[in-house]
Amino acid sequence: MLAENLSYALVQVAHNFGAAAVVGVPLIALASGRSDFDHGGRRLLWLVLLAWAVQALSGAAFATVSYALYGRLPDISRVATIALGIKLGCAMLGFALAALRLRAGVGREVERDRRLWGGLFALGAVALTAAAFLRWFS
Ligand code: HEM
Repeated sequence: MLAENLSYALVQVAHNFGAAAVVGVPLIALASGRSDFDHGGRRLLWLVLLAWAVQALSGAAFATVSYALYGRLPDISRVATIALGIKLGCAMLGFALAALRLRAGVGREVERDRRLWGGLFALGAVALTAAAFLRWFS
């Protein structure tokens, strides 16, 4: 029981920090005026890319721990399954958007970068909202 709780708790630590970052980093970028790629935006993009990766990996780690302990994944309701799908979709999109922007490099319009950060914030907020439904409709 101790090992079980400890495994879930450690995965949850990573998952919670990742959740804070996917919502918080875009807010920092927008509120501090550092959404511009050339003026701090690039660093923040790396941070948010890392945060989305942490979310996807720690989300998968929840499943891995369950499988290792019980030999199967938990039975969850339809609402919880949809919420999980939404989180997965947000994680894939958030990661892809940040990666593509980093790949594009310098020379894009500042206004376009602001919109990108707005989109990244929206994805984080939707995923965080879906997390509440996954939790309470499981
Ligand atoms: C690849 C995607 C993801 C997977 C597979 C995943 C999976 C999970 C699982 C299995 C749980 C435990 C649910 C429970 O205790 O019943 C969980 C909890 C949580 N997830 Fe995710 N997650 C993903 C992405 C995200 C994202 C992108 C966010 C936030 C932006 C997020 C935020 C949370 C939060 C805050 C909790 C704790 C909810 C609570 O216990 O109150 N997750 N996630």
